[in-house]
Amino acid sequence: MSAAASKIQTQSMEIAKVKEHIGAIVTGIDLAQPVDDATQKQLYDAVVENVVLVIRGQEHLSPGQLQAAGEIFGELMEDQNRRYLVDGFPLISVLDNRHKDSKGQVAKVGANATWHTDHTNQELPPKFTMLYAVAVPDKGGATSVCNARAAYEALPDDVKLKIEGAKTENTLISSARMKTGNPDIVKAQLEAKKPPTVHPLVRTHPETGTKAVWFHKGKTETVTGMSPEATQDFLQDLTDKITQPQFCYAHEYEKGDLLIIDDRASLHKAGFDYDHSQHRRLYRMLVRGDRPY
Ligand SMILES: [Fe+2]
Repeated sequence: MSAAASKIQTQSMEIAKVKEHIGAIVTGIDLAQPVDDATQKQLYDAVVENVVLVIRGQEHLSPGQLQAAGEIFGELMEDQNRRYLVDGFPLISVLDNRHKDSKGQVAKVGANATWHTDHTNQELPPKFTMLYAVAVPDKGGATSVCNARAAYEALPDDVKLKIEGAKTENTLISSARMKTGNPDIVKAQLEAKKPPTVHPLVRTHPETGTKAVWFHKGKTETVTGMSPEATQDFLQDLTDKITQPQFCYAHEYEKGDLLIIDDRASLHKAGFDYDHSQHRRLYRMLVRGDRPY
């Protein structure tokens, strides 16, 4: 791209904040075109600052162009669920309400419908989760994101004291969730010989130094000193404290939206409040992250 073209692209891009604590919408950029370094940095910084960024109007991207757009934000990593991938693009996975499980039943996606952050059972969970809207229902089906950094700061001191230094033991699916879980995931967990991955319940953002509450209830076997059952109740209570409306943004997709979430400072969930005879299909890419501390 010529210097002139790159200048035009930078000038026409607009980033508008959604609300004080969370969210920004980007317009006036075409990710099928090369994006210059300054614009890349602006986008990256906007994700970190606003926790979730929505880049509108990218419906025309091919999977290859989508992957290149994802790589603006870092090195992509594989989704641990290898069942649903875009053909020929192993770093782009598919979330679809018409997926079938290995038994031919409509695949359960229950854990996505509760507040969580992704892949906490891994040593190096993703730093960003990106979701790209391929098919969307007329109404509902939002992805909600909560600023767990601002929410942590607003917690009462006694709660902060209680969770300070606590650790979570993370598995593919917690034993408390197995009865209601997706059978393929339960089977993978039962067959896995891997010990749980231990992470802090409150993590420090490696780029900003801020702290955020950080967990996936459905993957947490225990919080330090608690039984699996007590852990689920405790994390539900903590979720309720964190996900106050002022810290959250529910994004209802338009086709071609690319959502980028800073997983290190947020929780998110999928909305199931839509007409399920309509198609909802998102592509997902994950950016490799660091070990939480
Ligand atoms: Fe997720």
